[in-house]
Amino acid sequence: MSNQEGSPVPLLLARDLVKAHGRTEALRGASVELRAGEILAVTGASGSGKSTLLHCLSGIVRPDSGSVTYDGERLDQLPEQRLSELRRTEFGVVFQFGQLIPELTALDNVALPLLLAGTRRPQAQAQAGEWLERFGVRGQEELRPGELSGGQAQRVALARALVTGPRIVFADEPTGALDSLAGEQVMTALTHTARESGTAVLLITHDAQVSAYADREVRLADGTVTPLGVAA
Ligand SMILES: Nc1ncnc2c1ncn2[C@@H]1O[C@H](COP(=O)(O)OP(=O)(O)O)[C@@H](O)[C@H]1O
Ligand SMILES: [Mg+2]
Repeated sequence: MSNQEGSPVPLLLARDLVKAHGRTEALRGASVELRAGEILAVTGASGSGKSTLLHCLSGIVRPDSGSVTYDGERLDQLPEQRLSELRRTEFGVVFQFGQLIPELTALDNVALPLLLAGTRRPQAQAQAGEWLERFGVRGQEELRPGELSGGQAQRVALARALVTGPRIVFADEPTGALDSLAGEQVMTALTHTARESGTAVLLITHDAQVSAYADREVRLADGTVTPLGVAA
């Protein structure tokens, strides 16, 4: 089943997700949908289950119950091999602390997902270089993550998340560790690139300045999702 922008069928649809960590019920029947190409902000207090939701939606973690449907496939039921293929090819993920590989240069961090997907090294490095340029970190290719500023490292992490041309980028408080100027640069780079390439973004944040970049916002509280400021 294909799913073009403007289709009434969401690209990603989660229904009634329940997920407990030990005795803590992080999600208690959370439902959310993401349409192709849209930028959706998920807000909520610290500890409200935002990261747990992102992990369930991106196939990193299986929910205890409920369903996650991505483009017609039930992620919650897929075998691990197909899930990891989807995570590699269709999804990009950015965390609060970029989680770049410290031993690799900026260029090689961005080239890595392409190498894992079988792209030859010269081609992977050329593409990685183009993405670094788009994110304004040209000239830093040979630096290692520890030699970059926080904002530069996050832009490298964005380049790494987008280099394979995913349909969805999941971003978990991508500006949470940055000052407001660096945060703005990261958000501008992310939203500009996503809109240009039609990539949907699920953006987790508790910063209203950050959620302002989204088309739509939902709030997570008590383990469930409530719509906020629905645009369409
Ligand atoms: N791996 C874990 N083990 C135990 N408790 C966890 C774990 N991950 C999250 N939690 C708990 O689940 C709740 C939701 O956490 P989380 O999804 O990280 O929320 P948020 O991202 O909104 O801060 C919190 O009470 C948190 O302490
Ligand atoms: Mg979190």
